Amino acid sequence: MRASRTLAMALPAIVAGQKPQYPPPFPPTPILPSSINYAPSVTPNVMDTTAPNAQVGCNAYGNDVKDLTLSVQYQSQERLAVRIYPKHLQPSNQSLYILSPSLTPQPGIGYGASKASSDLAFSWTNSPSFQFRITRASSGETIFDTYGHKIVFEDQFLELVTNMVPQYNIYGLAENLRGFRIPNNFTQTFWNAYNLDNDQELDVNGHSVHPVYLETRYGNGSKDSSLSHGVYARNAHGQEWLMRDESITYRTIGGSFDLYFLSGSTPKEVISQYQSGIVNTPYLPAYWHLGFQQVRWSYQNWSNLQDVVDAYAAQNIQLEGLMSDLDYLKTNRDFTDNPGHYDIGPGKAFLDRLHANGQYYMPILDPNIYVPNPANASDAYPPYDRGAELQAYIRDGNDSFYYGVEWPGFSVFPDFITPQAQQFWTEQCLAFHEKLAYDGFWLDVNDATSFCTGSCGQGLREENPIHVPFALPGDPNTSVAVDYRYPEMFNITNATEASSAASAMMSQSIMYPTPSVTPTPTVGRTLATPDVRNLTYPPYAINNFLPGHSLQKQVISPDATHNDGPYNSTEYELHNLYGHTSGNATYNALKAVFPGKRPFFINRSTFSGSGNFSGE
Ligand SMILES: *[C@@H]1O[C@H](CO)[C@@H](O)[C@H](O)[C@H]1NC(C)=O
Ligand SMILES: *[C@@H]1O[C@H](CO)[C@@H](O)[C@H](O)[C@H]1NC(C)=O
Ligand SMILES: *[C@@H]1O[C@H](CO)[C@@H](O)[C@H](O)[C@H]1NC(C)=O
Ligand SMILES: *[C@@H]1O[C@H](CO)[C@@H](O)[C@H](O)[C@H]1NC(C)=O
Ligand SMILES: *[C@@H]1O[C@H](CO)[C@@H](O)[C@H](O)[C@H]1NC(C)=O
Ligand SMILES: *[C@@H]1O[C@H](CO)[C@@H](O)[C@H](O)[C@H]1NC(C)=O
Ligand SMILES: *[C@@H]1O[C@H](CO)[C@@H](O)[C@H](O)[C@H]1NC(C)=O
Ligand SMILES: *[C@@H]1O[C@H](CO)[C@@H](O)[C@H](O)[C@H]1NC(C)=O
Ligand SMILES: *[C@@H]1O[C@H](CO)[C@@H](O)[C@H](O)[C@H]1NC(C)=O
Ligand SMILES: *[C@@H]1O[C@H](CO)[C@@H](O)[C@H](O)[C@H]1NC(C)=O
Ligand SMILES: *[C@@H]1O[C@H](CO)[C@@H](O)[C@H](O)[C@H]1NC(C)=O
Ligand SMILES: *[C@@H]1O[C@H](CO)[C@@H](O)[C@H](O)[C@H]1NC(C)=O
Repeated sequence: MRASRTLAMALPAIVAGQKPQYPPPFPPTPILPSSINYAPSVTPNVMDTTAPNAQVGCNAYGNDVKDLTLSVQYQSQERLAVRIYPKHLQPSNQSLYILSPSLTPQPGIGYGASKASSDLAFSWTNSPSFQFRITRASSGETIFDTYGHKIVFEDQFLELVTNMVPQYNIYGLAENLRGFRIPNNFTQTFWNAYNLDNDQELDVNGHSVHPVYLETRYGNGSKDSSLSHGVYARNAHGQEWLMRDESITYRTIGGSFDLYFLSGSTPKEVISQYQSGIVNTPYLPAYWHLGFQQVRWSYQNWSNLQDVVDAYAAQNIQLEGLMSDLDYLKTNRDFTDNPGHYDIGPGKAFLDRLHANGQYYMPILDPNIYVPNPANASDAYPPYDRGAELQAYIRDGNDSFYYGVEWPGFSVFPDFITPQAQQFWTEQCLAFHEKLAYDGFWLDVNDATSFCTGSCGQGLREENPIHVPFALPGDPNTSVAVDYRYPEMFNITNATEASSAASAMMSQSIMYPTPSVTPTPTVGRTLATPDVRNLTYPPYAINNFLPGHSLQKQVISPDATHNDGPYNSTEYELHNLYGHTSGNATYNALKAVFPGKRPFFINRSTFSGSGNFSGE
């Protein structure tokens, strides 16, 4: 279930004085105290006027790494790669610095590439410290230039500054809701996040991370004299790009510098060099994937869905596919059916009619697995047991699975970087398709979201099913019992109805005030400690927009652990890839369900290259 974005689209027409009906999202289970979701606040570095300048002195936001390797590769005529990474790495610390090519492509030197035939040239100096510059070989035009700045390499902090031309024009650095050209005074933060209250906030970190930009230098009058190039920084850690007058500062809270310069020189060529040369081209959709698909939360049963299909037909609007939000599931548990509402029998009949009519069905799928209450035999949930048997879930250290809270209640999260999680996911998707002949999925909340701060521990198992720690539309006696919000500009379409809803909303908020939020403690700046990484409150605090700015806010905590053997990866390194890897696993599972066909699913969270297997 997505927040206001879905709900806004979902608003049923209000007949004046009559409340819209939402089905309760849950049976009346206990609502967890919202304190479970509070992370101590931290001051983002970009707002902290007393923050140290990493360009001066050592160990500013981590422990300096002393021995580094520089690699410069003329990989093709159009692509030059510059990598800076620690010289001494073992399996135990490799994944902290090196983003595995199994997670996103790391291109190498192509056939016939050479310095002599390259569009780009690399130059450098060691005085007073290592600095480098990328130029166009033909004209000497500088496109990237760290001269005059230090390159900082610490275990939890990297910084590099490039000089830019005045009023530079750059585009990209998604995901973000803002104007196309990035202003020269803007800070882009990257940390996949989900805002319950407003999923469409401008200018902040979003669901996805694509650390690549296109720069265009416009010519004088003729378009042929404009030149564009691209820069891709292959690093998935939490990071910030500070666009400033005549410079960009690039900072990450881990990993390595793994930079790719693309010579363009048209915008289209830059995009093509990025896709074909590095992350791979987007998947080829089947024709029907491009059709109009409809979704709304609040449909209570299969006959509601049939009414929707019939209403489109009656209006002669071509409807290619229909999606379901969580309401089709038994208390939001994946791979189930909501009894009495979405029973398998009528579902089969509905899908037979839909398919006979050449239409498709793509229900929602969430990458969290409900943990059944061990004290309640009727709460059995076999998908959980199978994943546990395969050891397919993210862990909390070595002793336990990592437990969080998601829409179904207390939940675990498949560890999609492992083969056993892929096996689990494929098996479940296959078995579910035997029951319900869906045609694809809408993969949601894979940021990945969790509503405990840090691990919830195992204590909530015997409380399950529990309700997320905030009220949902449909919950009785809350300020969201009835959602009176309207789509933008509805006040113009029907001023009478809009004003009646607005006044209902006013009186509702008086009747049911929003519970007050307990002030959270603020943690001071974490100091770098030799040989210690602080995964939850790293020394450099990025400006995550969620209240309190913590990296632990509403996600699987960065100190959760993965099942990748000697590499001991933590969620700190992999957070921004959860959407990408769950997408990959869903794509692979759908290939098994529909052999020989091009799978269709859309996802919420992505990384560079996700388009290779998923739609958005
Ligand atoms: C506006 O809303 C009112 C109340 O729901 C309804 O009676 C009326 O028909 C609507 N007007 C239009 C133009 O849709
Ligand atoms: C990685 O671990 C090895 C072995 O413990 C150590 O020698 C090396 O310095 C570590 N590398 C970094 C960059 O911390
Ligand atoms: C996608 O799945 C394949 C097959 O399991 C695996 O080889 C690859 O590394 C995965 N890629 C990502 C991005 O997870
Ligand atoms: C940033 O630049 C934009 C124009 O590019 C301007 O509208 C805005 O006011 C500037 N913001 C600040 C904080 O200077
Ligand atoms: C564009 O043309 C103007 C007027 O001829 C000139 O002053 C300016 O330097 C030119 N700019 C570039 C980038 O060539
Ligand atoms: C489906 O839900 C509607 C309410 O939206 C209800 O009126 C109807 O009886 C339900 N139909 C079935 C078959 O359960
Ligand atoms: C046991 O679980 C079932 C299924 O989730 C639920 O309907 C029932 O209310 C639970 N019983 C108790 C005592 O919590
Ligand atoms: C987990 O187990 C591995 C392998 O036995 C070991 O190297 C690692 O230190 C353990 N980690 C924790 C947090 O106990
Ligand atoms: C909601 O409020 C009504 C009236 O105050 C009360 O009777 C009812 O028990 C409440 N329901 C819940 C679930 O708290
Ligand atoms: C409709 O609402 C918008 C913003 O909510 C407001 O700017 C606009 O003036 C309103 N228009 C009318 C006709 O009330
Ligand atoms: C990380 O830093 C925070 C804030 O400085 C501190 O409260 C916490 O104890 C630290 N965690 C570790 C594991 O050092
Ligand atoms: C899929 O992901 C993109 C960005 O990553 C997001 O904008 C879009 O809303 C997502 N789609 C759905 C249906 O969640």
